[in-house]
Amino acid sequence: MTATASKDLREIKDPGEVRQLPEFIASNKPVDRAAADCVWVGVCATTGGAVELSTAAKVLDKVSGGAVARAIKAGDIDGKPGNNLLLRDLSGLPSPRALLVGLGKREELNEKVFYEAVRSAAKSVSSSKGIKKIASFLTDVPVRAKNGERSGEWRVNAHILAVREAGYRFERFKTKKDNQDGAGGKAKTAAKTTPEGITHVEMLLPGDMRPTEAPKIIADAQALANGIEQTKDLGNLPPNICTPTFLANQAKALARSYRLKVEVLDRAAMEKLGMGALLAVAQGSMQPPQFIVLQHNGGTAKDAPHVLVGKGITFDTGGISLKPPADMDEMKYDMSGASTVLGVMRAVAEMGLKRNVIGVIPTCENMPSGLATRPGDIVTSMSGQTIEILNTDAEGRLILCDALTYVERFKPASVVDIATLTGACVIALGGVNTGLFSPDDSLAEALLTAGQDALDCAWRMPLQEEYQEQLKSPFADMANVGGRAAGSVTAACFLWRFAKNYRWAHLDIAGTAWKSGAAKGATGRPVPLLVEFLKKGLE
Ligand code: BES
Ligand code: MN
Ligand code: ZN
Repeated sequence: MTATASKDLREIKDPGEVRQLPEFIASNKPVDRAAADCVWVGVCATTGGAVELSTAAKVLDKVSGGAVARAIKAGDIDGKPGNNLLLRDLSGLPSPRALLVGLGKREELNEKVFYEAVRSAAKSVSSSKGIKKIASFLTDVPVRAKNGERSGEWRVNAHILAVREAGYRFERFKTKKDNQDGAGGKAKTAAKTTPEGITHVEMLLPGDMRPTEAPKIIADAQALANGIEQTKDLGNLPPNICTPTFLANQAKALARSYRLKVEVLDRAAMEKLGMGALLAVAQGSMQPPQFIVLQHNGGTAKDAPHVLVGKGITFDTGGISLKPPADMDEMKYDMSGASTVLGVMRAVAEMGLKRNVIGVIPTCENMPSGLATRPGDIVTSMSGQTIEILNTDAEGRLILCDALTYVERFKPASVVDIATLTGACVIALGGVNTGLFSPDDSLAEALLTAGQDALDCAWRMPLQEEYQEQLKSPFADMANVGGRAAGSVTAACFLWRFAKNYRWAHLDIAGTAWKSGAAKGATGRPVPLLVEFLKKGLE
């Protein structure tokens, strides 16, 4: 494929989206002094079937002359998770509305329940045009963790993320917004309509937090939410817009906005480096491949960087080993590793994280054509190891292996690759856990803990020499597939052969990066896990 041919490609622009992001503050204002469109207060269920009031709900009940107690007595609310009740015009309350938010049983009020309760509160008020300003007292409830209780800082952070998640929309290609009724009429672009939803959230400052700490905690949570949204947007964009060149331009735009260092290698540069595996995947497509390197230098010059490598297949047809047609549209998400890297880079840059972080993205399309790689082709990777490509649909490992060799030059403190690598990982872990593979116990532990703290879990999978057997080829150093058995493990073992010279972990996000079905879309995972990992650091 020549550069001239790629000039003939029609470029379609991303229409973008107008979003008004909610502002958050933390204050000590009690519920009977908070001036908002709606206050959120928690109520719990007890084992005996009664309803227990949180501190704020007790105050609310008192100033309103027992309005909460009457609602409970009437059976309007039972305190179960997701059971919310909106009360209006309570006496003694400056705010015209109060939302009682069901938190479930106090002893079962864990991180997930807390997060979901805040999300459901935000969803409960999302259809009311009159509710823009929230005063939330949910930050005041105790949240159980595996060992002990979650801090106020954790609750404020989770509260912000839950509100931001509930407000996320991707409507740029709808000429009429989902919640906009009215029959027919002239098509309006989504971008021109005024954004709806919550604009301000005042959260009660938790007892263990100083008022002066709040602004940084809030700013960091907002930066993380911005990164997550960036990742979701890129995943949700269609593959005719979100091409390798588009991803490269996104990286350049990020670099301009957040003063990151960016470098994009073109096909010629990749040829010079000997990236034969990556180029074999790219050769069937009219879209030119790109190799993106983004650097955030928040640490000192002598700090070894943490490197993230993201799989950026902007569409995976399978190549000559063509995939069946059902749900092939979902293969637009095959760049979720890349979008994760861009989202994390944005978040850490916006936070001004005091660490060196490098994001590396090999990106191309996997297409069948007269120029495409055939099953049986043998290629030489940048590492010098040769690969017999038996299945062109096992392309992720081919682009990643060259990137893993490339990053040796950074003398990294750690390398984590992120990839929608195998359908087998979806079968093994579903959409709950990201698959984590690493020969390094302390790196694996750090990633698992980060996942738990960030409500973005991973589960450790095996990585053992015994599985390498399956990748043997009679003609080359290895084959690119190892049969159906332990498919996600042999994929990880393939990558391992290229990651011997530094501390390395692999995250298979094929099951967690997006949701199928009615509510289909990118999830933004594992951005929270990785940002938490980078904030804490290794050792
Ligand atoms: N991108 C896919 C993996 C995938 C499949 C992610 C389904 C999400 C849902 C990857 O490139 C792929 O096709 N993997 C093959 C590997 C096989 C040929 C060894 C797979 O999983 O079937
Ligand atoms: Mn594939
Ligand atoms: Zn793929």
